[in-house]
Amino acid sequence: SKKITIPQLKEHKKEGYKLRMVTAYDYLFASIIDKSDVEMILVGDSLGMVVLGYDSTVPVTLEDMIHHCRPVVKGAPSTFVIGDMPFGTYNVSISDAIAKANRLMKEGAVDAVKLEGGRDMAPTVAALVQGGIPVMGHIGLTPQRASQLGGFKVQGKTEEAAETLLQDALALEKAGAFSIVIECVPYDVAQKITESLQIPTIGIGAGPYCDGQVLVTHDLVGMYERFVPKFVKQYAQIGPTIHSALNDFAREVSEGQFPKAEHSFGMDSNK
Ligand code: KIV
Ligand code: NA
Repeated sequence: SKKITIPQLKEHKKEGYKLRMVTAYDYLFASIIDKSDVEMILVGDSLGMVVLGYDSTVPVTLEDMIHHCRPVVKGAPSTFVIGDMPFGTYNVSISDAIAKANRLMKEGAVDAVKLEGGRDMAPTVAALVQGGIPVMGHIGLTPQRASQLGGFKVQGKTEEAAETLLQDALALEKAGAFSIVIECVPYDVAQKITESLQIPTIGIGAGPYCDGQVLVTHDLVGMYERFVPKFVKQYAQIGPTIHSALNDFAREVSEGQFPKAEHSFGMDSNK
């Protein structure tokens, strides 16, 4: 299948076609996703928690992102790939944000970048878009600001907070963002935002009325066992499968059951 385009993303919103996005951080997962019906990959800074073992996304560097974006892009030639701008790469100045986003586009080879924030980030988003860098927004629970938000909590729960989120989304759209991730927001608030925008919303913990959905792949296949948020559905339990495969290997080695002749070479065989 061919890679989806930004104009097609906007068309799909009008048609009511639901967009599907998942995360990847390496070549292997990217190549599996590339063969699936999912049309977008996010190289999320969730990388920090899922594969680098950090307690938050804050320590993730631009170099980490570039290092992981490249193999994802290689593994998924038919999938639209978005790379997260990590903490500290767009809060110094607009020109610094452009320089960092240029590096993610050129060295990470992604199709677009994503950054967290609402109205406050609109001038930055506008500058990136004017510079030819496609930008996806991200509002609601913005994990890079989890400390300021008082933890990983549902956002937009009061009338006032919901209105602020709507204004954030409208400001990002006006700035030229091609899509917005809405994370951990009551479903009716996300619905109102979705209906107020021309660009597609991609929800995570934001209910069924967004234009698309995103999940962390390691969550949806049941591989990330440290913490399972309410909004995650596990479509498989790969973690326990890997665990039992490892213990089967360990037991067979200790019992002399593995390897057998079929896994061994003789002097006369090269196979
Ligand atoms: O980093 C990430 O994986 C994300 C998604 C959860 C939206 O930002
Ligand atoms: Na992220």
